[in-house]
This record gives sequence, structure tokens and C-alpha cells, in this order.
Amino acid sequence: MNKVIRTLKLTTAAAAFSVSAAYAEDVEVLHWWTSGGEAAALNVLKQDLETQGIGWQDMPVAGGGGTEAMTVLRARVTAGDPPTAVQALGFDILDWGNQGALANLNDLAAQEGWDEVVPEALQFFAKVDGKWISAPVNVHSTNWVWANKSVLDANGIAVPETWEDFVAAVETLKAAGITPIAHGGQAWQDATVFDAVAMSAGGPEFYKAAFIDLDEETLGSDTMKEAFDRMAFIRDNVDDNFSGRDWNLATAMVINGEAGFQMMGDWAKGEFLNAGKVPGEDFLCFRFPGTQDQVTFNADQFMMFDQGGTVSQEQAALASAILSPSFQIAFNKVKGSVPARTDVDGSELDACGQQGMKDLAAAASSGNLFGSMAHGHAAPASVKNAVYDVVTAHFNGEYDSETAVLELVDAVSIAK
Ligand code: GAL
Repeated sequence: MNKVIRTLKLTTAAAAFSVSAAYAEDVEVLHWWTSGGEAAALNVLKQDLETQGIGWQDMPVAGGGGTEAMTVLRARVTAGDPPTAVQALGFDILDWGNQGALANLNDLAAQEGWDEVVPEALQFFAKVDGKWISAPVNVHSTNWVWANKSVLDANGIAVPETWEDFVAAVETLKAAGITPIAHGGQAWQDATVFDAVAMSAGGPEFYKAAFIDLDEETLGSDTMKEAFDRMAFIRDNVDDNFSGRDWNLATAMVINGEAGFQMMGDWAKGEFLNAGKVPGEDFLCFRFPGTQDQVTFNADQFMMFDQGGTVSQEQAALASAILSPSFQIAFNKVKGSVPARTDVDGSELDACGQQGMKDLAAAASSGNLFGSMAHGHAAPASVKNAVYDVVTAHFNGEYDSETAVLELVDAVSIAK
């Protein structure tokens, strides 16, 4: 670890943790924010820490959704050398917390009143045995569609409200010789689309029964077959080069007008913004048709690995910076997500961000807020990976929809 001593401008909260006048260590941060929009958002955090005199050791592991980052993390922990802070999602955080690998952030959380401002749905994934073990950065959601506005206008397509409208819009684009759907064929991206498609095909109770309760009958139902049939329609309307493509390159196809739609979480908005595009003028954001009243969410958090007893000053300062209201707005404006605190004013967010905040609050109060299966907030990693395998095999034509349903039932029952 770098032992550079830096001059300090301490925040109040971090100051309470700091008896000396300097941070002795850099923070090493493992993350998967490597696309243009993600890197721009990460810079907001880096700069925030820099102004406090905390050094940043970057440990990026490319791969959307974080599968590769989690593999690298396991290797580092096994080697006895965990990074200071690690981007993580949902059940993965609870796994590390239950293993006793994470530092206890309770003193800082109490001092800053996290219990009062972080929504319950996020606290569920940020605490183990009443101890705060990670710092929530944001709330993303996966049931969004991103569209190129001039492509839609030129083809007389209005925002589709239902699955049938969506099918008609896709057929229109195909007839016009435009790739209807931009997609990257990677398991986590197939699963991200499946979150929305399953919710749309079966509604919120179906989604919950299948992916949160892991109910066998629901997993094996005709509605699940319908969800797979809809995935097959989507597969038929992506371009020939979709296989293995990174998600941000699929977003670029919509940005450049090569494709009409992308179904992706709101991190896609970060790419549009990074390319200088304006919501409502250049691109449109709307909920996946048939899921307008529901939100499937994932929240990025930074887990702080126990570095030998108590939370370090640098970890406390990082966590404090992440939870500060000004950072929550500055970061989420760039990232595409919405704040992880309920008490920040969202009026600085753009139209998509404001809709995201409104949808989130409405879904939470109507009981229609659910963890994303694709992003580790519905079920533990073993089940998530089992779902990935089946959804991807079906997307790539290895299974028809009927077989996919049978495989899904089997895979989930073995994994859970
Ligand atoms: C998600 C993560 C987002 C975004 C996305 C693509 O899992 O929550 O912040 O990074 O992956 O990389």
C-alpha cells in the first residue's frame, strides 16, 4: 500500500474518525465501471476523495454486471489480500457479510443517520445482523427501454405501451431496414432483458413468485413459456453480430441511429449523456411495455473489507463521501441511476432521472418494487447463475421455449 501522507480537508463525519491530520493509506477500489459513462461517474467519486486528501488506487475489472469483478475478488480474498473497497450487488454483499469478511460501519452510520435516510429495500442488502457492512451508492433499475428519437419519428413510431405495440414497432423498423433491437449477447445482458420480459408477460406477482420465492409451479408455468417465446421474438430482431458484444457498444448503436431500441438498465443513460445526447430530444427512455407500474431494481454499493479489526479512517471517509447528499446527486446525474437516499432533492436530475425517482417511490409504496434477478437482488448468486445459463442457452437457440421452462425448473431447484 502506498504510504503517501496527504494534506487534508476533512469532512465533518470523516473528521470525527480522524485523530491524526492525514490519511496514511490510499483506498484501493475494485469495480467494473469501465464504459465511458461509468468512468465519468466514477470520476465524480475519485475527485470527491481527492479534495479530502485520500489517494485512489484503481482496480477496474471490465465486464458489465460484475461477474468478472467477483471472480477477481474471490482470488484476492483467497490470496489474503482483499482490496479496501469493492463495488458489489445485493446477495453478494450478504454472502461476504455472513462470512465475516466485511468491516462494521455502524459507528459512522449512527453518526450520519443512515437508518433514517436509506430505504428499507437497500438496507436489506447493506446490513448483516444489524451491522452496516456497505455503503449504498445509487439505485438503478433494469426495466427500461432506450430509443433513438429521430429513428422512431422517421418511422412514425410512438412510445409502445404494450407488448403488442412493441412487436408492431419492431416489425416497422425491420421493414425499414433498421436493426430493431441493439443487444449484446452476454449472459448478464440476456438476463437483464429477461427481467423485464418476464415481468411484462406475467405481472408483478408472477415475477415475485418465480424469481424471489422461487416457486416451482410458477417457474414451470405456461406464463414462463410465454416469457421465453417473447425472448425468442427479441432474438429474431437483433443484428447478426450481437454475440459477445459489450452493452455499451449496443447503446452506441442506438445513439448512432443504427438501431431503434435497447432494453437495458439506466446505466445506459450514462452513455447517451457522455455522448452529449439530451433526453426527450435525441433519445427517449420509457419503461418496458407492460411494466409501467413496476420497478426491478439493483443498487450498487461499496463493501469495505475488514483490514484487521476496525474500519479504517480511509474506509470511513470513503463511505461518508458516498452517502453525502451532494455526492449522491452529483454522481447519479452522471451515472443514470437515482440517489440511494430518500431525502435528497431530485430536481437537478434530467427528465429520465426524475421519472426514475418518481417510479421508484410509486413502486415502493404500491408494493411493486422488486429486486432484479439479473443483477443479484432477487436470489443468491447460485440461483442467478442457474437462471443465466438457461436464459442464454434459450436465447442462443439451444432450447426451444418448452425445454427452457423444464430446464429452468431443474436448474433452480438444484441451485437453491
Ligand atoms: C450493473 C451495475 C451498474 C452498471 C452495470 C453495467 O450491475 O449495477 O452500475 O455498472 O452493471 O456495467
